[in-house]
Order: sequence, then C-alpha cells, then structure tokens
Amino acid sequence: MYAQMVDTGVKSLKHRSEMSADEQAFMARIDNESKIEPQDWMPDAYRKTLVRQISQHAHSEIIGMQPEGNWLTRAPTIKRKLQLAAKIQDECGHGQYLYSAAETLGVGRDQLLDQLHTGKAKYSSIFNYPTLNWADMGAVGWLVDGAAIVNQVVLQRTSYGPYSRAMIRICKEESFHQRQGYEILLTMMQKGTLAQKDMVQDAINRFWWPSLMMFGPNDDASTNSAQSLAWKIKRKSNDELRQMFIDQTVPQLEVLGCTAPDPDLQWNPETGHYDFGEIDWSEFFNVIKGNGPCNKQRLEKKVKAHENGTWVRDAAQAYATKQQAGAATKKEAS
Ligand code: 3HC
Repeated sequence: MYAQMVDTGVKSLKHRSEMSADEQAFMARIDNESKIEPQDWMPDAYRKTLVRQISQHAHSEIIGMQPEGNWLTRAPTIKRKLQLAAKIQDECGHGQYLYSAAETLGVGRDQLLDQLHTGKAKYSSIFNYPTLNWADMGAVGWLVDGAAIVNQVVLQRTSYGPYSRAMIRICKEESFHQRQGYEILLTMMQKGTLAQKDMVQDAINRFWWPSLMMFGPNDDASTNSAQSLAWKIKRKSNDELRQMFIDQTVPQLEVLGCTAPDPDLQWNPETGHYDFGEIDWSEFFNVIKGNGPCNKQRLEKKVKAHENGTWVRDAAQAYATKQQAGAATKKEAS
C-alpha cells in the first residue's frame, strides 16, 4: 500500500572534486546562503528530493484536517468551534501554499494528488492515529502542531526559495494552533472534573510517542538527511529537532500537572537536555507502511472528498476557459 523509500537518485554524498562545473556553482550558492529559485539550475536529485519532501508536507497538511474535522460538530462551546474551524481552514491553506511550492519544480498538482490517492506518497505518520475525545483536540494542537512548529521554524531557512517563503507564511499561523491546543488542556486541568483531567492525561499518553516520531527516524537510520543537510534543504537533523521539541515541551507538561508516558524522561544537567526513552520504531515503520489505526480510513475519506469535488473543479475550469475566450475575443476586437 505505502511506497517504500522514494528514489531521488541520491546514492551517496558527492565530493566537490567529483562535481560538474554546474554542481560546483550550485553548491557555491548553497554555501553562501543564496536561495535557489525555480528558474535556477539545480541537480535533478535536488529537485526530486524537494518534490518528495514538499509534496509529503502538503499531503500532511490536507490529511491532517481529518482528525480535527472529526470534532468540529462536537466542540463544547461556540468559541472552541470557531477556533477549531479557523485552525482547520489554516491547515487547508498551508496545503495550498505547499502544493504551489511543489508546482514551481515542474510537477503538477493532479500528479501529486494521484500519488497520495494511490498510496504512492506518504503523509505524516501522526495523522494515522484516531482522535477519540475533546482532550485529543488539545493534544493535537499542543503536541502535533508544537512538533510541526519546531520543524517548520527551522525550515524557514531551507535553501529552496518558494519552500522557505511558504514556511515563513505558515509559521505565522502555527503558534495560534499550538496555543489553542494547550489552552484546551489547561482549561480542562484547571476547571475540569476528575474524569476530564483523566481524559487529558490519556490523550497525552496516546499522542506523546507518535508526536516524537513525527521528526522521522533516528539520524543513523535517516535515508535522506545527509544529502538534505548538505543541500541545506534540512537545516537540522531529525534527532536535533526531536530534542528541541522535548526540551521545550516537558516544562509545559509540568505546568499542566501531567506526565509523559516515558519513565526514562529526565533532565540531564550535564547535557542541558532531557534524556528520554527508546522510541518504538517498529510501530513507526508499520504506520508509514500503511498499517496504522486510521491509514485506510484517512485515504478513503480523502479520495471520496476528491471525487465529490470533481464538479467544483469542472465548473472552475469551464469558467476559466470562458474567461480566457472572452479575453481573447476582446484582444482581437481591439
Ligand atoms: N511520517 C511519514 N513518513 C515519514 C515520517 C513521518 N513522520 N518521517 C520520515 N518519514 C519517511 C520519509 O519520508 C522517508 O521516506 P521517503 O524517502 O520515501 O520519503 C523515510 O521515512 C526516511 O526518513 P528521512 O528522515 O530520511 O526523511 P526526511 O529527510 O524527509 O525527513 C521529515 C523526514 C523530518 C518529516 C522531513 O521530510 C521534513 O522535515 N518534512 C517537512 C515537515 C513535514 O512534512 N511535517 C509533517 C507534518 S505537517 C503538520 O504537522 C502540519 C501541522 O500544521 C499540523
């Protein structure tokens, strides 16, 4: 069902002396922090790696609307419903920015969507977990968007111009996502019943490890990191980003009065970071292979929504064709 690792043509890191003149000029631009723009020369593997990562990022934003959409009609107050509706709408917009960034690399949106719909393309593992109650809306906002923010803030400095600019715009909206999630949990912990407080801890127990998995496998198991870091597509490694997320999240956990489901989680004064337990990578690879709790449901819902939207796309296309014909007639007449 799920594709294996996408082949971007990168077998191993090239030494500068092995590079063509074009590649050396390209790397000189990367070295001095110039942004690579769509019309610039770029190695084919750089382009393929970007299409792979940006499209998976876009797919994640769109599929990520489902777990929260599941609770839109059941939000406890109109204020929570408005916040959640605004967040879901933002995620859709993030997906559009990212599909547009991917299209600057010469790939069509239909092709990207087909890869998603046929299970050839990945989206973030985290969205294959169910959202069982309202506390999950808090955990998703606080932990999932919190993890996404750590990753995306750093990605603002990615070497590809359109991706970097999409990240800058997306990051402006993400902090609201995380804050509204944290505020849901804080309200439940400070004003909720015992049962609601238990719901919060249960939601954290279920989303803690899958949120850590969002950053990808450990660096020594990351098939793309070395080249992506060399091209400054990635600016920090998976493990660096994961550690940043844990270090900033544990103090927030303590303010909630909750715990993480990790007995090995503790501050290490020597390293100045939190030590944490071993992630269950068999669960991660099982989920990205398509065997997570909600993979089938997420994809079926996405395909059905796309099919139901055919008439909207056809109408928009018919209108655009009519507009173009009208403009052409006007031009001839003038
Ligand atoms: N879910 C699914 N697949 C994952 C994954 C995850 N959490 N983490 C890694 N993988 C896949 C990779 O895609 C790669 O497979 P591929 O070669 O077939 O694409 C394989 O596992 C090995 O991982 P690597 O570390 O080699 O892959 P990357 O170098 O691409 O690093 C990444 C993974 C850190 C997720 C990187 O792709 C990245 O930074 N992507 C941009 C950020 C992103 O996509 N975030 C997803 C969440 S978006 C979100 O949460 C929206 C928010 O608003 C809610």
